[in-house]
Amino acid sequence: MKKICVIGSLNMDLVVNVDEMPKKGQTLIGSQFKEVPGGKGANQAVAMARLNGNVSMIGKVGNDGFGQTLVNALKKDNVNTDYIKVEEGPSGVALITVDKNAENSIVVAPGANFRVLREDIDKCIDGIKESDIVVVQLETPLDTIKYALQESKKLGKYTILNPAPAVKLDDDIIKNVDLLTPNETELEILSGLKIENEDDIIKAAEIMIQKGVKQLIVTLGSKGSLYIDKDNIKFKKSYKVDALDTTAAGDSYTGALAVAFSQDKDIEEAMDFASRVGALCVMKEGAQTSLPTIQDVLNFRG
Ligand code: RIB
Repeated sequence: MKKICVIGSLNMDLVVNVDEMPKKGQTLIGSQFKEVPGGKGANQAVAMARLNGNVSMIGKVGNDGFGQTLVNALKKDNVNTDYIKVEEGPSGVALITVDKNAENSIVVAPGANFRVLREDIDKCIDGIKESDIVVVQLETPLDTIKYALQESKKLGKYTILNPAPAVKLDDDIIKNVDLLTPNETELEILSGLKIENEDDIIKAAEIMIQKGVKQLIVTLGSKGSLYIDKDNIKFKKSYKVDALDTTAAGDSYTGALAVAFSQDKDIEEAMDFASRVGALCVMKEGAQTSLPTIQDVLNFRG
């Protein structure tokens, strides 16, 4: 089995459930709040480890109470934390509201995640060298992501960028991405093309391929997912389940894809595996609390 290195964020999620999302200026009474380990990078690493992936993580936490809890959560799930550094200052925190339709709204205070710099990638370069697949998201500084992708490609690694939260990316980042895993909104921001139908998704994906991305898997929520490279287009329907909380669904999907590729599964098998994992994830509350184990996936009838 190939090894995976995740470079990304760790956040403590502070979660409140409400019936409806608050309107501007409105105060609402919600449920009792919960603290749940999260962060897109850490969620993806935990998703991979629970699915039997061999995974290390490069990232930073602060020297507050949250930092230690976040590292312990990774350790408990057998993620290699040798490349997670602790720095003076606050850890990343995410304020999350989840409504009765399972949709969320998230505001991240990045804390230590924004202090992951090029020099940290150099110090942790062994984490990349000893891996075959490198997975990044956009909750650490863009300059660090650009550098990490560039160094990973120099070392001949397969790179996956989950472009969340989406921002316009310069071509120097995009050209070093083998697989991009946006949702529709993220693809719209990255490509600059308004997406109104399936043809627009394909056109937007083609824009990204012209910029140098080799493969895209666009997640379409309950509709499914679409694979696009310069010669092929494949669609995979999603599994229908009753969603309770969509937090970390995208993370679980990208994590599952990386594990499938680490086991040399083909695209269709990988998309099916990731769709099962995504379906199981939205049936439970929270970020890392909702990520399924390989046994859950094997038991899932769909
Ligand atoms: O993708 C879900 C994650 O986004 C949450 O765990 C939160 O920390 C934010 O990073």
